[in-house]
Amino acid sequence: MTDLADRRGVETEVYQPAEDSHLLAEAAVEDLRADPPGLALEVGTGSGYVAERVADETGARVVGSDVNPHACEQARDRGVEAVRADLLEPFRTESFDAVLFNAPYLPTEPDEERDDWMEVALSGGEDGRAVVEPFLETVGRVLAPDGAVYLLVSSLTGVEEVVAMAETEGFSAVALRDESFPFETLTVLKLVR
Ligand SMILES: C[S@@+](CC[C@H](N)C(=O)[O-])C[C@H]1O[C@@H](n2cnc3c(N)ncnc32)[C@H](O)[C@@H]1O
Repeated sequence: MTDLADRRGVETEVYQPAEDSHLLAEAAVEDLRADPPGLALEVGTGSGYVAERVADETGARVVGSDVNPHACEQARDRGVEAVRADLLEPFRTESFDAVLFNAPYLPTEPDEERDDWMEVALSGGEDGRAVVEPFLETVGRVLAPDGAVYLLVSSLTGVEEVVAMAETEGFSAVALRDESFPFETLTVLKLVR
């Protein structure tokens, strides 16, 4: 691909900040401002918008990660340290004071799945929890003992089911913010051990 084609890829294949991004950033900044984390990770950083806001508004060092290389490039253009990674796989044990994730959450039938980066950004598989579930199973490893997880979930994904999964992994959950839209309610969960 030429440089120009690469740029087009960045513009069309990266999830751009939307209501869910804003809600996660607002809730996390408000909660973290009083006691900013030394080091935070935003999984699935996309454009880098949430990571940039948390860094700018709390003073924390925030690393972004994404499985989509175009997203890593766009986040870096924004000044975010970005690493290409599948969920928490490459990160060291107990290394982050806070981990944020606006996960892909839309329930999607197998025959509706498209083979592109926007599908990776949006699809949570048949029940909407295909990415959230492995995230919850593995995030505890990279979290510092007193660390917190900030997870955006939708009523379409099943907030109670996500809370139950988190509890199975040893977390307790509180809802920091809710916002309702015509077809869904978005909730930011804070998970601590
Ligand atoms: C709903 S978008 C959120 C983007 C951005 N954080 C925001 O709030 O605007 C979900 C992001 O998660 C990324 N993602 C999906 N599966 C992932 C995985 N297994 N590991 C890392 N990132 C993943 C997607 O590429 C996408 O950028």
